[in-house]
Amino acid sequence: MHILCLGGGPAGLYFALLMKQQDPATRVTVVERNRPFDTFGWGVVLSDQTLANLQAADPASAKLIGDAFNHWDDVEMFFKGTAVRSGGHGFCGIGRKRLLNILQDRCLELGVDLVFETDVSDDQAMAAQYNADLVIASDGLNSRIRSRYADAFRPDVELRNCRFVWLGTHQTFDAFTFAFEQTEHGWFAAHAYQFDATTSTFIVETPEAVWKAHGLDEMSQQDGIAFCERLFAHYLGGHPLMNNATHVRGSAIWIRFPRVVCERWVHHETIDGRRTPIVLMGDAAHTAHFSIGSGTKLALEDAIELARCFATQPDADAALQAYEAVRSVEVLKIQNAARNSTEWFENVERYSGLEAEQFFYSMMTRSQRISHENLRVRDAAWLQGYEQWLARRSTAPRLTKPAFPGKSKALEHGSVEAAQTAAELPDQPGPRNRLRRAAGAAAHPGGSEPREAGSVGAILPPMLLPLTVRELQLKNRIVVSPMAMYSAVDGVPQDFHLVHLGARALGGAALVFVEMTAPEPEGRITPACTGLWNDVQMLAFKRIADFVHASGAGAKIGLQLGHSGPKGSTQVGWKTPDEPLPDGNWPLLAASALAYGPTNQVPQAMTHSDMHRLKDRFAQSTRRAAEAGFDWLELHCAHGYLLSSFITPLTNQRSDDYGGSLENRCRYPLEVFSAMREAWPAHLPMSVRISAHDWAPGGNTADDAVEIARLFKAAGCDVIDVSSGQTTRAARPVYGRMYQTPFADRIRNEVGIRTMAVGAISEADQVNSIIAAGRADLCAIARPHLADPAWTLHEAARLQSRQVDWPLPYLSGRDQLYREIFKQKEAEAQADRAQAAIK
Ligand SMILES: Cc1cc2nc3c(=O)[nH]c(=O)nc-3n(C[C@H](O)[C@H](O)[C@H](O)COP(=O)(O)OP(=O)(O)OC[C@H]3O[C@@H](n4cnc5c(N)ncnc54)[C@H](O)[C@@H]3O)c2cc1C
Ligand SMILES: Cc1cc2nc3c(=O)[nH]c(=O)nc-3n(C[C@H](O)[C@H](O)[C@H](O)COP(=O)(O)O)c2cc1C
Repeated sequence: MHILCLGGGPAGLYFALLMKQQDPATRVTVVERNRPFDTFGWGVVLSDQTLANLQAADPASAKLIGDAFNHWDDVEMFFKGTAVRSGGHGFCGIGRKRLLNILQDRCLELGVDLVFETDVSDDQAMAAQYNADLVIASDGLNSRIRSRYADAFRPDVELRNCRFVWLGTHQTFDAFTFAFEQTEHGWFAAHAYQFDATTSTFIVETPEAVWKAHGLDEMSQQDGIAFCERLFAHYLGGHPLMNNATHVRGSAIWIRFPRVVCERWVHHETIDGRRTPIVLMGDAAHTAHFSIGSGTKLALEDAIELARCFATQPDADAALQAYEAVRSVEVLKIQNAARNSTEWFENVERYSGLEAEQFFYSMMTRSQRISHENLRVRDAAWLQGYEQWLARRSTAPRLTKPAFPGKSKALEHGSVEAAQTAAELPDQPGPRNRLRRAAGAAAHPGGSEPREAGSVGAILPPMLLPLTVRELQLKNRIVVSPMAMYSAVDGVPQDFHLVHLGARALGGAALVFVEMTAPEPEGRITPACTGLWNDVQMLAFKRIADFVHASGAGAKIGLQLGHSGPKGSTQVGWKTPDEPLPDGNWPLLAASALAYGPTNQVPQAMTHSDMHRLKDRFAQSTRRAAEAGFDWLELHCAHGYLLSSFITPLTNQRSDDYGGSLENRCRYPLEVFSAMREAWPAHLPMSVRISAHDWAPGGNTADDAVEIARLFKAAGCDVIDVSSGQTTRAARPVYGRMYQTPFADRIRNEVGIRTMAVGAISEADQVNSIIAAGRADLCAIARPHLADPAWTLHEAARLQSRQVDWPLPYLSGRDQLYREIFKQKEAEAQADRAQAAIK
């Protein structure tokens, strides 16, 4: 077999040496256009995990790479005059040139043919010349081979919004360093890390608009670099910034990162009468933004996987298929994380209202791959310090009311709870200071106040921090999301609702929402949905609210009011949801006469008198909600129901003042909201649930969601409950854990309003990360609460946090659960230690 690797970067060289090592009889040739010691760029970063993978694949080169590495553990960040630093991150920096030389030497040692200074203009001719059985397209980011077979590989290349330049410096850094500097036009970020005794990589990036506003697009290479030297002088200690891409002209050294995804990685061509596979590898197949430092890791791991597939699969076709299947999934995971990370750096301005400590936490968790508990594993003292900082920011101590009257010894250690007092929202990005310096910034770890021995659990995890909205105090950040139970009779909640909602109130959540409840019979989704248009319903709800308040659990109860609109008169959730009833359907209303789907009724477009009448109904229901004793009121403007049908352009075709622009489309929902706000007690909060994205062409996007939130904020809304989709059957959401949280993050930090995140949040660790990073103020948990009414209590137990009140009659259950989880964790830790000892 003869393997030809076209492109001698990390991917091509590593695959070549692994295949030669696997079978010395295999002929392997690498063709590279540069000379052996030529290279672009400076150092690259690999994590400890990647080094372990290299060790397993080829111990000889792994040893040399390991020896050549500059290893560090800390990440340090400078922002608005403050330095924040945490440890345990385990990274290595190596000069790209050094890495390539090690791989080249190892190739030669094993007998790989290296052909330098040969530009491949025709891969087929080259394959024919070398009589190749397998061609590896390892020709990097701008792969010529990928372009040639674009119809087969189907690449998607997206240019991201920032401009960046990859520079070097002889300033050395003892941590992976991020520096943020603000100018009159916006933010610049530097990513710096040392990769040998005297040299560091120094990448500077800024949004395209800021780059242009400074005229960097018109500047010579030298002037652009001098600009960076002035801007980041504080960090450079008098050392210049160096450029080794002098062959690139002018401002072209500043590039926009191309995100590359290919649908297929393997293609066959008939070359010299033989069916020859051409296989993408490394940057030619995919890219991941440099801010998560994974490009070289992915290239090396592609090589490891393809070599493994050749060793384990019965034939070449099977090996190539397996390679594509395994690697495309792995790469997608990294690319998802990289997209979050890229977007974070593109939107530094959005987070600039955060204080440095929280800005750092937000940066560290930006990809959503590093969670709160991951940070604890890396640097427990720092995280503990941050938790204390967060608690101080949002809390003042007060005595807890016992969950049930009477005294309990078991409760004593949880007797001081905290109450949120200070406004926690970020400052809105303020007027820009000219070249503001981080002057005098002294590095200080967040973990300034180590936890005392024996006080484990004394610090409130972010999930358990209290929150005050208007005059309502919530004991923690967990909300039972509104969920239709389809168990009402004539709109009246039944004993089922009392038990269902009561159990969840006892289960530790701070706020328990009643399902979407209609202000008139025709506003229900199904005949079994709840309503609040008469006093019988009001009294039935009062019974539930009274139970929640009297239970001593300290939970609050909220009502979600909404009208089903074009999605009304349909079947219950466990039959065929969103489909019309077999009989007994009632006429529907909507913004426009557009059916939700081919089988749904065509609704009637609301007249102005319909709108007036219904607005009064909402206000009446609001008054009844106050009478029933609800603590919180939410208006449902999401998921394609009546008010949502006004907001999304996909269902609003009106030509009056209620259609057209976003402001017009929001007019009626805002009128309803204002009528409700007037009828609702001023000291109690109101939220609005929105679909922050329609996930369909022509629909609302996250940009619109920001504007929608602004309008509701101006109307007196306290919290935006950020859901998405369900407004059209054509929606194609991109699901994933916490997939709607980025919308909540954006709204909170751009609009300066509290948000509730919802959707695929299923663990305390996720809630802790969301709250601690300032992505949302509350987390609504829906389906997990169907499986476990005491979700909050159980998650707190998994954290081994004692600062959550259990109902007194359940205390023996609590103590047993904590013991069991403690033992389980001990056993896991012991197994880990045993495993480590074997290695
Ligand atoms: C600013 C920046 C910072 C980065 N930081 C990191 C980091 O910290 N950690 C990390 O892991 N990765 C980092 N990367 C990414 C990393 O450099 C690449 O992902 C990695 O080098 C990919 O390896 P590769 O072998 O696929 O491609 P490359 O390294 O690009 O190698 C491709 C090779 O093919 C050769 N070639 C191309 N066309 C031809 C042709 N027609 N004929 C002959 N030869 C050809 C090229 O000369 C080159 O040597 C960074 C990238 C950038 C831009
Ligand atoms: C059975 C069920 C009923 C629901 N009913 C409502 C509702 O009445 N109002 C609403 O806004 N969302 C409703 N939802 C959506 C949830 O509130 C929540 O947004 C969604 O399930 C995503 O959260 P999760 O991933 O935690 O389940 C319902 C969800 C489920 C599973």
